[in-house]
Amino acid sequence: MFSRVANPQTVITAGKHAKTICTSAQRNAKVAVCGASGGIGQPLSLLLKNSPLVSELSLYDIVHTPGVAADLSHIETRAKVAGYNGPEAVKECLKGADVVIIPAGVPRKPGMTRDDLFNTNAGIVRDLAQAIAEVAPKALIGIISNPVNSTVPIASEVLQKAGVYDPNRVFGVSTLDIVRANTFVAEAKNLDPAQVNVPVIGGHSGVTIIPLISQAKPSVEFPPDKLKALTERIQEAGTEVVKAKAGAGSATLSMAYAGARFAFALLRGLKGEPNVIECAYVRSNVTEAKYFSTPLQLGPNGIQKNLGLGKLSDFENELLKAAIPELKKNIEKGEKFVNK
Ligand code: NAD
Ligand code: LMR
Repeated sequence: MFSRVANPQTVITAGKHAKTICTSAQRNAKVAVCGASGGIGQPLSLLLKNSPLVSELSLYDIVHTPGVAADLSHIETRAKVAGYNGPEAVKECLKGADVVIIPAGVPRKPGMTRDDLFNTNAGIVRDLAQAIAEVAPKALIGIISNPVNSTVPIASEVLQKAGVYDPNRVFGVSTLDIVRANTFVAEAKNLDPAQVNVPVIGGHSGVTIIPLISQAKPSVEFPPDKLKALTERIQEAGTEVVKAKAGAGSATLSMAYAGARFAFALLRGLKGEPNVIECAYVRSNVTEAKYFSTPLQLGPNGIQKNLGLGKLSDFENELLKAAIPELKKNIEKGEKFVNK
């Protein structure tokens, strides 16, 4: 029977397949979600619970985790679900995690930039990174909380100070940009979105989002005005959702899909599956920006190989030039926050 030491604020919910014998395809993997009761956290946890790649699902939030965990634990899949509520329970949640996904923090309202979330979310990510450093220093960490361009440097600085930083294990989740680019390109060319792959590099806000449509598979071409409009739509797609939600937050369902896609890629890499490739925002020496998203080959220790920029078109080179100063500013702001 799956059991844990409980403290008064910890709710333990055992899944029903307690004694599953795992095949190699079902390697035991513990995934922790921090911010599990939120708009992203709940559907993301549902998708993770539904996956044979996950054997333990550990849910942390400052509110409502008992209910979310109890609800998910009734689903007839093998992942054992445990809910942890309140700051006293965070370390118990994280202990032994192979992968930690962080969608904790406030979302945008219309009129806000992602950077406007910095004051609230920077401290949340810093404190979660500190707890990870103490009890799960080898975990692969996927940070969803905005502004991603700054929260990844924040977590990295905290881990560095704790002496456990491994740049191959810390990722800003930019998968939603790729998902959107695939969808919009497929719509424009009447293709099946599931068969389209557009790398998106740079960061995760406005001009720092650089879709590489010249590298799309299958290969596609657009006249310059259409290419510009499509690129700008991908760059501003988050704002499109924020406006449509009219004060009720930002993308949650598509982000849960994208977050699960990224978590599964990390887990497949951990299992040793070859050729697992995803873009993510990581420590990088590919450009002048200290953190930068590019396609990455993932493996048992996180990043196995950074696949770099590939060949950019003139248009994409101009996008890159516009992105670098903004990225550098966002990165410096995150690093200063930890080192102040
Ligand atoms: P939400 O408000 O619905 O949920 C956030 C959750 O975080 C809440 O349940 C809240 O209780 C929890 N939380 C707050 N402080 C916490 C703490 N200290 N520890 C643990 N949990 C804590 O917000 P949401 O819509 O789920 O968005 C979450 C974050 O994800 C936002 O910052 C948003 O901007 C970001 N986001 C990123 C992407 C991306 O592509 N990377 C996409 C969409 C949203
Ligand atoms: C997104 O791209 O949807 C997220 O970063 C949320 C936001 O604020 O736009």
